[in-house]
Amino acid sequence: MEVIICPDADEVGRVAAAKVARVCADEERPVLGLATGSSPLAIYAHLAAKVEAGELDLSAVDAFALDEYVGLDRNHPESYASVIARTVTEPLRMDPARVHVPDGAAEDIEAAAEAYERAISEAGGVSVQILGIGTNGHIGFNEPTSSFSSRTRIKTLAERTRLDNQRFFSSLEEVPTHCLTQGLGTIMDARHVLLVAQGAAKADAVAATVEGPVSAVCPASILQHHRRATVVLDEAAASGLR
Ligand code: F6R
Repeated sequence: MEVIICPDADEVGRVAAAKVARVCADEERPVLGLATGSSPLAIYAHLAAKVEAGELDLSAVDAFALDEYVGLDRNHPESYASVIARTVTEPLRMDPARVHVPDGAAEDIEAAAEAYERAISEAGGVSVQILGIGTNGHIGFNEPTSSFSSRTRIKTLAERTRLDNQRFFSSLEEVPTHCLTQGLGTIMDARHVLLVAQGAAKADAVAATVEGPVSAVCPASILQHHRRATVVLDEAAASGLR
């Protein structure tokens, strides 16, 4: 696991965006793995600047988001379909038909989960998976005790996660209780994984991920077993490391 500590959150985004651009340049048909939430926003801003400058063209690249809420209308501004369209597809000038988000509104959630796994495989698998980390160590919405071999499936959100994500909604009641998320096994299939974390609130989860035992209590610790895992942190997020 390569750990890079940056002076501030913007530099985290710059370093991580450079890594994403490098992987895209190296592969003939790159496939991007997208995360939502606050952590990857600086990456997307730096990638958008590269697109704007004509240094990067993502218009023919396939992309797959990690997760989606269940029980939230797709057009709700905080559905991950809306968030990805707003923060990734439009600024990075990607083809909306190539940017996929799990269908949390599907009537048959199990079939939607299987179809998502199939679509990732048919696209050739994810070249580089961008990840944030929850304060409880989740990646995607694989909450503590998730199986290391899990695939895309419905999960109950931990109370901690609902409280952390309350900031995107007007009340805790509005935060969905369930999600459709890629599994830890799905994430581990990506050819590169790139986790970013900023701020002191992530320090304990980062320390458990990088230096703790590999344990389902901290789902992100499975990344210790990935052959090409890069963790990019600001100093506050790195403050729990020995
Ligand atoms: C979002 C996701 C989550 C977030 C994590 C951190 O697609 O998969 O694992 O990355 O909850 O969220 P932020 O970045 O908002 O602190």
